[in-house]
Amino acid sequence: MAIPVIDFSKLNGEERAKTMARIANGCEEWGFFQLVNHGIPEELLERVKKVCSEFYKLEREEGFKDSRPIRLLNELVEKKSGEKLENVDWEDVITLVDDNEWPSKTPGFKETMAEYRKELKKLAEKVMEVMDENLGLPKGYIKKAFNDGEGDNAFFGTKVSHYPPCPHSELLNGLRAHTDAGGVILLFQDDKVKGLQILKDGEWIDVQPLPNSIVINTGDQIEVLSNGKYKSVLHRVMTSPDGNRRSIASFYNPPLKATIAPAPQLVEKANQDDLEIVQAYPKFVFGDYMSVYAEQKFLPKEPRFHAVGAM
Ligand code: OGA
Ligand code: NI
Repeated sequence: MAIPVIDFSKLNGEERAKTMARIANGCEEWGFFQLVNHGIPEELLERVKKVCSEFYKLEREEGFKDSRPIRLLNELVEKKSGEKLENVDWEDVITLVDDNEWPSKTPGFKETMAEYRKELKKLAEKVMEVMDENLGLPKGYIKKAFNDGEGDNAFFGTKVSHYPPCPHSELLNGLRAHTDAGGVILLFQDDKVKGLQILKDGEWIDVQPLPNSIVINTGDQIEVLSNGKYKSVLHRVMTSPDGNRRSIASFYNPPLKATIAPAPQLVEKANQDDLEIVQAYPKFVFGDYMSVYAEQKFLPKEPRFHAVGAM
């Protein structure tokens, strides 16, 4: 079983309706799908791969050798207890936003990643418009919700991650199972080294590497806005004994001050369909949600909605 692969360029041609339906299916049944022909220039993607790998070699690899996961793993192996490590991820990560400090030693890193982020943000907005249409919402609805009204207030971040080879991959995950807190996530994963898995009908399945595709998934805020039509899906990253997996996740999220609630149109629709009042999610301030998430990221998500609804 493999997650849907969708040709995004077909949105502009005869196969528009079919492509819209494929994306709707990706959102409703999978929570994850891959886009090919997404319009991000291949040449830019090649540069992104190059500068991120060089950045890891030059600025991160050495530091990973005395990082917390290495220390904890060594302790565990010495103890020979047979336990697993449940409280740490085998991941090297930095996050780029517009106004934090970026790595500066790797030639071309800053320029390339700035260009990449600009393109990915545009792609996120296109994908959100498709979701608006598929959900029967006015064009721009999701973007507006994630910008707290008109203007450019969204929180757009890019995580540059590496999952280095792990000598005891049976003892811990690269990244423990979670759903993403925010809105729309666009992942540019390694061409060859796999590791990302999603939980589908009770089974963990691989998100198959497909060179230069962009994997899209929806976070908890899309679940809320869509009143549960598009559910955020549990995913995790496995470690492997060989291969350093690179993955670059960009997330289009609301700013902390934004109020998030199910779209009234979708609550009404649920009412009509079910003949009873169905608003499955509370209205809350995203920053409050993030405080809950910070404590409960690796726990089931439903209690997070209850907790933030009670705040
Ligand atoms: C994440 C995530 C997957 C990956 O950062 O939330 O799920 O492949 N990343 O790095
Ligand atoms: Ni995630």
